[in-house]
Amino acid sequence: MSKIVSTSIPYVNAKPHIGHALEYVETDAYVRHLRLQGEDVLFITGTDDNALKNVQAAQTAGVPVQTFVDTHAEEFRKLCTDLGIDEHVFVRTSGNEAHTKTAQAIWEACNKKGDLIKKIYSGYYCVGCEEFKTEKDLIDGECPLHRGKPLELVEEENYFFTLGKYQAQLEKLISDDTIRIVPTSRKNEMLSFIRGGLEDFSVSRSVARAHGWGIPVPGDESQIMYVWFDALINYLTGTGFPDTSTWAEATERTHFVGKDITRFHAIYWPAMLLSSGVELPTTLFSHGFITSGGQKMSKTIGNVISPDELITKYGTEATRYLLLRHVHPTEDTDVTWDRLDEWYTANLVNGLGNLVSRVMKLAEEHLETPVILSSDDTHSEAQWGNHLLKFEFSAAMDIVFEHIAKGDEYMTASEPYKKIKTEEGKERALSDITKLVHHIAKLATHLKPFMPETAQAMLRTIAENKKPENLFPRLP
Ligand code: MSP
Repeated sequence: MSKIVSTSIPYVNAKPHIGHALEYVETDAYVRHLRLQGEDVLFITGTDDNALKNVQAAQTAGVPVQTFVDTHAEEFRKLCTDLGIDEHVFVRTSGNEAHTKTAQAIWEACNKKGDLIKKIYSGYYCVGCEEFKTEKDLIDGECPLHRGKPLELVEEENYFFTLGKYQAQLEKLISDDTIRIVPTSRKNEMLSFIRGGLEDFSVSRSVARAHGWGIPVPGDESQIMYVWFDALINYLTGTGFPDTSTWAEATERTHFVGKDITRFHAIYWPAMLLSSGVELPTTLFSHGFITSGGQKMSKTIGNVISPDELITKYGTEATRYLLLRHVHPTEDTDVTWDRLDEWYTANLVNGLGNLVSRVMKLAEEHLETPVILSSDDTHSEAQWGNHLLKFEFSAAMDIVFEHIAKGDEYMTASEPYKKIKTEEGKERALSDITKLVHHIAKLATHLKPFMPETAQAMLRTIAENKKPENLFPRLP
């Protein structure tokens, strides 16, 4: 029995930004933790190719849409590699027959159930959100998330999904945690949204408005599926649905999503699944935003810190560290280069890197053979594991860094570097150095889901009984 864990699939209208990197590393740390516990995990990620905003961006760039989305999708794939994302399935929603087949199968199942009705609709569409907005969503006639971007007035005949039918069922599923939403504040927000009344939502658009781009509605040549309808289905495509029963049989189906798209995953997606008779997600983890100067960092707004810059400056492992420890998992976090530099230097250069290098230098110089590790060294703390299972990444990391501080304190208090030079202190110093090496091994165990290469490097230096290469170079 496997577990399924996914990231959301980003739009590919521009290069990846730090928010995408955050979601990748959070999901990866969780997946790695499960895998280290011996779980079989199917990790799904990919790209959302069929959005109108992708079409518009391609037009602006003067490039055919498929070429444009292919180029950008590669950048997201590369980012997964550059961030050290563990083994995963990468689902593209365009140029992918399997996805078209899955999306059309779900469409047909919803249609058979009588949940898709065609009607004329008139409303304001926000291309930034890829969503129709109602009066109550707007502030001064603008989308609050995409101020300055004009809304498109649309009037056309579309298919609508009868969401209202599922209101009571969705309310129950979320309130009794059949679909567990973390954190509770988001769960409550979803419940109050549902209690406010669920309206039918448009699930298709005219071929003309879609510029002929997207998944065709089966049996109606005039319509293309609404991008969210097909995008959510990527999670099924990633499991080989409908040709496999992986999705149905999984013991856990967890989606990592940002707070802005929790509603699509907590309400639209389960409703589509209920309609088509497919198993529901078990968990939604809704992360906060990385902001810059108090504003959401977004491609549409244009205030983006690129993950490439982060990786170039700090390296893969430190980038993972910075995102997992210093970005609050569920609240918004404001990030600046100054703060990132400070965290890097204080905690990695002077903290972890310095401790490992001091301990292993002593070990290399004074221990004749490598320290043999015991099962205690590879045993992780229950509280740390609980934090990880609750998506409390920074709290789990804090435990590791408390142990780094304890290692430093032990070194300072026991002074093995001084005692080793005296006849009476030598034996005690050797035992303290050995103790500290075990401590480093234990740190490595707890760092594995977060900083896998660093953890490996630490274990390697222990096995070779050698001081490591500079793990975290000082910033220039
Ligand atoms: N394509 C949709 C998702 C479809 S999933 C079936 C989408 N794409 S996105 O590129 O706009 O966002 C992808 C993910 O990045 C979302 O979870 C979103 O919340 C997250 N982030 C976008 N900006 C972010 C920040 N500034 N900070 C943290 N995460 C952010 O939505």
